[in-house]
Parts: sequence; structure tokens; C-alpha cells
Amino acid sequence: MQAQAGEVVKVQAPKIELKRRTFTFRVKRYDPKTGSYRWSEYKVEVTNRQTVLDALLKIKATQDPTLAVRYSCRMGICGSCAMVINGVPRLACETKPFDLGTDVIVLEPLSNFPPVKDLVVDMDEFFRKHRSVKPWLIRRDEEEQFEKLESYYPQTEDQLMEYLEFAYCIKCGACYAACPMVFLNKNYLGPQALAAAYRWSADNRDEGYVLRLKVVDSDNGVWSCHYSGTCSKVCPKGVDPALAINLLKKSLLTGKAPGKR
Ligand code: FES
Repeated sequence: MQAQAGEVVKVQAPKIELKRRTFTFRVKRYDPKTGSYRWSEYKVEVTNRQTVLDALLKIKATQDPTLAVRYSCRMGICGSCAMVINGVPRLACETKPFDLGTDVIVLEPLSNFPPVKDLVVDMDEFFRKHRSVKPWLIRRDEEEQFEKLESYYPQTEDQLMEYLEFAYCIKCGACYAACPMVFLNKNYLGPQALAAAYRWSADNRDEGYVLRLKVVDSDNGVWSCHYSGTCSKVCPKGVDPALAINLLKKSLLTGKAPGKR
């Protein structure tokens, strides 16, 4: 029914029935003192509105304060809480136990990262690779970029669309953990850094594509990617790093800078 002008329409939020269930969480824990892994098992009651991260925090508060977990925003933005959940890299704060379809939920630290403690991994190398592609706007004229306050870099909607989907990356490391080529070659830049290289090079305001080629167009750059596509399958933000890598390859083979598909 159409609302009449001036009529107040009350919209009722759909009611989600609250359910409770006890799940078993099997957690693979790394002990930095012994350099070895062990498994711990916890039973926790959660509701259908709670996430794996909520369950882990409940375990820490009520059963085992020594369990190490990393998190910050609790809303799928900071990327801190990525871990392997039932064999798939995901964000713990966006994954609900009720949606996984199993009573036993297996949690492991992200693959392809050195462990720090329990579910926390060391992301230094991952961020070093990210930085190596110069993920920022580069202008040839630094004086114009940094000194002239009136500098203005226009961008049309079409130009924005050339890279927008790749700008949603939250650097959680899920793609890197899922990549078989990172597993085989620790020097490979990996899907996150290469997608960032594409994102910045495809930005019409950027002039740094040539400066990124040294790392992008190398054995440990795009040519290490065998296009398994696992990175794109696990991205919690719907980014498609495999596409970005293929677009970079296309640019290198055609000699045309990214930004024009
Ligand atoms: Fe920030 Fe999960 S805690 S993404």
C-alpha cells in the first residue's frame, strides 16, 4: 500500500528469534616457550546473534584467561581477528557459530604467517610486502603535492570505478593465508600487496606505476601467481585480488598502465 503525503508510516524491524546452543570450540594454540602447538577444547553457549569472536571472549572471561586472541573493532573493519575457522580463513567477528553448520568449531591461527601465541600471528612480513608496493598516491612533482596547498586532483566517477572495489581491502591477511603460492614461496608478495599495487596504480591521480614495477614485475611479483583464485574466494570484503593480479599482468604485457580495462 502506498503511503499518502503527510502520513506517518511505522516500519517494524523484523524480529529475529533468539536461539541458544552450546558449541565445542577446538582451538589450535601455539606456545612460544616450547615452539610447539597443542589443542584446547572449550564448550560455550552462544546465541544465534553472537560471533566466533564473542565466543572466544567468553572463553577468556569465564574459562581460560591465557587464551591469546587479537581483535579491535569487532565490526569487520580493522582486520585484526582473521583466523582459520573450520578450515577457511575468515573474520572471527563476522562469523556466527550458528551459520557454520557444525557443533564442533575448529579454530587455527592464519596459515602462511609465523605464529606468536595461540591464535595470534606475526604480520610484520605481510605489512613489509604491502609497503614495498608503495601503497599511496605518488606524484612526479613533490613540491606541487606537498607544498602547494591549493593542489587539487579531480576524479570522475568512471575513474573512481577503475579501482574502488580494490580499495575495500582491510589487510586482514585472509587472502595471504589462503594462497598456495605464498606457502610455496615465502618471498612471493602475495595477493594483498599486489591488489594494493593495482589499486594505487589504477588511480588516475597517481603517477607511481613505473616506480612499483621493480617489485610487481618480478619473479616474486605477479609472475608467481598461478591463478588458483583462493584469495578471492576467502576475502571477507568481496575484493578480488586474483582479478587485480591479472589486470597487472595485462598492463605489463600490453605496455598500458592500469586504469583502462
Ligand atoms: Fe576488527 Fe574483526 S575485530 S575486523
